[in-house]
Amino acid sequence: MKYSRPRGTRDFLPGKMAARRYVEQKILGVFTRFGYKEIATPTFEHLELITAKSGEDIIAHLYHFKDKGGRDLALRPELTAPVMRLYVNELQNQQKPLRLCYFGNCFRYERPQAGRYREFWQAGAELIGSATPEAQAEVIALASAVLKELGLSDYELHIGNIGILRKILAENGVGEEEQAHIMGVIDKGDEAQLQEELGRLQLPQRERDVIYGVLELNGRRGEVIKRAEALLAGREVVLKELRSFEEILDALESFGVKNYHLNLGIARGLDYYTGMVFEIYAARLGAEKQICGGGSYSLAEVFGGKPVATSGFAFGFDRLLLALEREGINLPDTERVLFMVIPFGEEYLSRAIEVASLLRRSYACELEVMRRKVKKALAYADARGIPYVILVGEEIKAGKVLLKDMQAKEQREVDVEDLEDVLAAIAGGNP
Ligand code: HAM
Repeated sequence: MKYSRPRGTRDFLPGKMAARRYVEQKILGVFTRFGYKEIATPTFEHLELITAKSGEDIIAHLYHFKDKGGRDLALRPELTAPVMRLYVNELQNQQKPLRLCYFGNCFRYERPQAGRYREFWQAGAELIGSATPEAQAEVIALASAVLKELGLSDYELHIGNIGILRKILAENGVGEEEQAHIMGVIDKGDEAQLQEELGRLQLPQRERDVIYGVLELNGRRGEVIKRAEALLAGREVVLKELRSFEEILDALESFGVKNYHLNLGIARGLDYYTGMVFEIYAARLGAEKQICGGGSYSLAEVFGGKPVATSGFAFGFDRLLLALEREGINLPDTERVLFMVIPFGEEYLSRAIEVASLLRRSYACELEVMRRKVKKALAYADARGIPYVILVGEEIKAGKVLLKDMQAKEQREVDVEDLEDVLAAIAGGNP
C-alpha cells in the first residue's frame, strides 16, 4: 500500500533541499553579521504558551493534542512566543540588548494553497532589551539586508504603527484585549465585520471616521505624515506616538533603507504587537504574497518575566524561496559532483576505493559501486553531468590513474601523488 503525505506538507527532493540549505545559510550569515546568535526551541510547547497572546486567528489554526500524560500541547505556529519563553526562563539576567535568531518549522492548520502550507519554515530574529528608534529600525534594516543578500528586488516594504490605532481605541475606553480583537479583524481585511465591531463598541461616528482614515494612510512618508497630522490634530497622545514613529524612520534611513511605504493600515494577525509593525510583500506570489512580518511587541511579562522592550520579525522561508524562483534568481548547485572514480573491473576496486577516499577529503566525489563495465559507468557519469572521471586500472601499478574530461572527451595520465593538485586546479575553475 502506498501512503500519501499529509495535506499541506511537502517532501523536498535532492536539489531542492540544497537550494533551501543555501538560502538558509545566506540568511543566517546576514543575521550573524548583525550580531544575532542562533537559538532553537522545541517543536511543541504547552498549549497555554501559544494561546496566551497569539491572537484568535493563530489559535483557530493550531495543531494541538493531549500527550499520554494528559498534558495539552501544541505544535508551534510561530517562534516569537517560544523565543520569549526561552528568554524568560534562561536569559533574563544577561546583558542587554540580546540579539537572537532562529530557523525552524512551524505548523498552522490552514487551508493549503500556493505559498500556504500546514508545515512551513520561518527564519527570524528578535532584538530584546531596547526600545530606542535605532533598535526598532535595526530589525527592519536586517530584514531588508537579507533580501539584498539574496538578490531579491521585486518586493515592497510596508511599515506601519499599531500604536496609533491602539491609542485611538484606548482614548475611547477600549481595553487592551478588545483592541487586539479589533486588530485581528483589521488584519483579516473584513470591512463588514469591522463596521459591526466598531458599532458594538458604540464608538461615535467621528471616531470611527478617524479610524477608517488611519487605515487608509498608505504611501510615501512625507505625504502620509502630513495627512496623518491633519487627521489626528488635537490628539496629543496619538501625535506623540506618530513623532516617535518618525524617529524610527529617520534611523531606518540612516541604515540606508529608504525605499519603503508607510502603511498605517497594517494591523498584523498576532496580539502581542504594541507599536511599529512591518510587512514585506512579493507581488509575484499573488494571494500569499507576504514574505515577512514583524514589529515591536511586549510578551515577556505574559510569560512571568519582567517587561522588556522587544522587536523582531520572521520571514516565511518557503515563500521567500518561491519569490526568488519567480524572480528567476538562480541559486548555485552546492551539491555538484565534479568527480567520479571508476575501477577497470573488480581487480582494481580496492585501489579505486582508496583513490575515492582520498578525493572525498576535499571534493564531492562519486565512486562506482554497481560493478558496471567502464563504458556503462561512463554513460552514468555523463547522464549525471559529472564532468571528470578518474579511471583506476593497470596504470595504478605505476602509481598513475587516467583522468577523463567528459566534455572534451580527452583523457590523460596523472600521478596519484599529483592528483590532489591537478584536481584542485580543476575545482578552482569550476565554481
Ligand atoms: P506571521 O506574519 O504570522 O508573523 O508569520 C511570518 C511569516 O511566516 C509570514 O509573513 C509568512 O511569510 C509566513 N507564513 C505564515 N503562515 C504561513 C503558512 N501557512 N505557509 C507558509 N508561510 C507562512 C509571525 O509569525 C511573527 N512571529 C513574526 C515576528 C517575529 N514578530 C516579531 N518577531
